[in-house]
Amino acid sequence: MLAGLARTPRSVPPKFFYDAAGSALFDRICELPEYYPTRTELALLRARAGEIAACLGADAEIVEFGAGSSRKVRVLLEAMQRPRSFLPIDISAEHLHAAADALRADHPGLDVRPIAADFSRAIALPARHAQATRRVGFFPGSSIGNFSPDEAIAFLRRARETIDHDGCGAGLLIGVDRVKEPARLQAAYNDAAGVTAAFNLNLLVRANRELGANFALDGFAHHAYYEPRLQRVEMHLVSRRAQQVRVCGHVFDFAEGETLHTENSHKFTVDGFRALAQRAGWQPRAVWCDDQQLFSIHWLGLPG
Ligand code: AVI
Repeated sequence: MLAGLARTPRSVPPKFFYDAAGSALFDRICELPEYYPTRTELALLRARAGEIAACLGADAEIVEFGAGSSRKVRVLLEAMQRPRSFLPIDISAEHLHAAADALRADHPGLDVRPIAADFSRAIALPARHAQATRRVGFFPGSSIGNFSPDEAIAFLRRARETIDHDGCGAGLLIGVDRVKEPARLQAAYNDAAGVTAAFNLNLLVRANRELGANFALDGFAHHAYYEPRLQRVEMHLVSRRAQQVRVCGHVFDFAEGETLHTENSHKFTVDGFRALAQRAGWQPRAVWCDDQQLFSIHWLGLPG
């Protein structure tokens, strides 16, 4: 965080959003009328659950990257044949364990082994469940869009190694938000209830609490817009005035209007994403899209 604040222009990675309060705010974003990705992806998973489950196969171990509240995997678990174990990975430990307990209660036969970790780094998985014959990855929500294109390729390569580390990897099911008209994106990241603004500003609340910073919450404004050239929504916190902020004993001078870049959310065409996956060593196999062409779910296989 400190390095990002010192950089020009200032930017911090979006993973810092997800403390307990940030994860709860993100869950609220997913329910907003303007934020279409969650409900569109869920509806698509439900509508195509049979075909998707056939790709995932029987007796699988599922590894979910950035599992959050684990809502979407429930749709897969209902449709899959004898899913054996579920390894949700999330940076927000409290949230992760609560979701894992709820899932265990609803699926008593499923071995749920949560892993509190940052999925943007390499993760060593525990040994495969004794009855699982294949391992599949699940990365819903278009979280892939929060990486830069280079980071996305690096993530996809690492995910391939993680899933297939013992030669039993079968594929990766990944949700990807599509390029669309800017007005829809603009609304999705600037909701009328101000939940996305609170989510963005929570980064400063967290820095004040955890890093002894003294950000004035009324000194920064939420700013989100679509940048068509880069096919991404950018989120920033804009300094409302010239001000000095202390973080961990370091002083940062913000000019009026200066921004702290907090998130990119890249959008993809179907072909653009398939090409990206291929560059990371995956074999694009199936893709499912909703009728409004808002969202895509890709099934990527291992070559050979
Ligand atoms: C988690 N991620 C895919 C969300 C997105 O749309 O990029 C995070 C988010 N940021 C603002 N609203 C939602």
